[in-house]
Amino acid sequence: MDIPRELIERLSQARRVAVLTGAGISAESGIPTFRDALTGLWANYDPQELATPEGFARNPKMVWEWYAARRTSIVGVRPNPGHDALARLERCFDTFTLVTQNIDSLHQRAGSREVVELHGNITRVKCSLEQRVVSDFAEGESPPRCPCGAYLRPDVVWFGEMLPADALARAEDAAEHCDVFLSIGTSAQVYPAAELPLRALSAGATVVEINPERTALTRHVQFALQGLAGEVLPLLLDKLTAASA
Ligand code: OAD
Repeated sequence: MDIPRELIERLSQARRVAVLTGAGISAESGIPTFRDALTGLWANYDPQELATPEGFARNPKMVWEWYAARRTSIVGVRPNPGHDALARLERCFDTFTLVTQNIDSLHQRAGSREVVELHGNITRVKCSLEQRVVSDFAEGESPPRCPCGAYLRPDVVWFGEMLPADALARAEDAAEHCDVFLSIGTSAQVYPAAELPLRALSAGATVVEINPERTALTRHVQFALQGLAGEVLPLLLDKLTAASA
């Protein structure tokens, strides 16, 4: 994989960088993506049953246990060189906002400091009625109950739900005020996240995609780096560091 010199020049001159990551960046850590035709979660599980408020109302035990199993498997994985490179890249710019659709905490575990979580975090739970995060609850029942009596649920965004307003506002602001925007490991199909690189383009930013496959975004971007995040990002970081030395 060759990183275009023009891209390294633009990154060297950039002061503000925004990044959007999706499931693809965690694929090399062993976490399945959603839309891979064979191994994607939504190829093997029905999102209407597992990732909607209606599905939870129909079968709270099944939904709770599916997320509990995913939580357990995520605890056992480690950040990969793609996460590590992004954590180091953060230190190269005045302003660096890492927006993620992932709920796995791997960016934070790799050392990224400014992480905007658009779709929540699987390690937190919240009350399904009051929507407040609850940290102290009795395990045992499945799902456990909030002190108010309602079921607890994972603090993740399900289909048909609003994104956390403050996270979305920060993400939109970062997209609209960056010099370079990186879209990494996302199929760019789920809105409003998929709109962020388009907002950056409209605002005049250089938009770069890192993905082994073409996506809905590819034809719009100035640089499409076709490769694995865990390989392309360390290379990008090396070239940038060498250029600024
Ligand atoms: P998808 O599964 O839709 O897309 C993953 C993308 O990662 C695909 O375009 C792959 O080609 C790419 N990919 C795979 N391996 C990669 C690698 N090693 N390096 C770089 N890219 C790689 O996942 P998302 O776009 O994240 O929402 O999906 C968006 C949202 O849809 C998720 O946050 C989730 C899901 O429904 C909710 O649960 C609310």
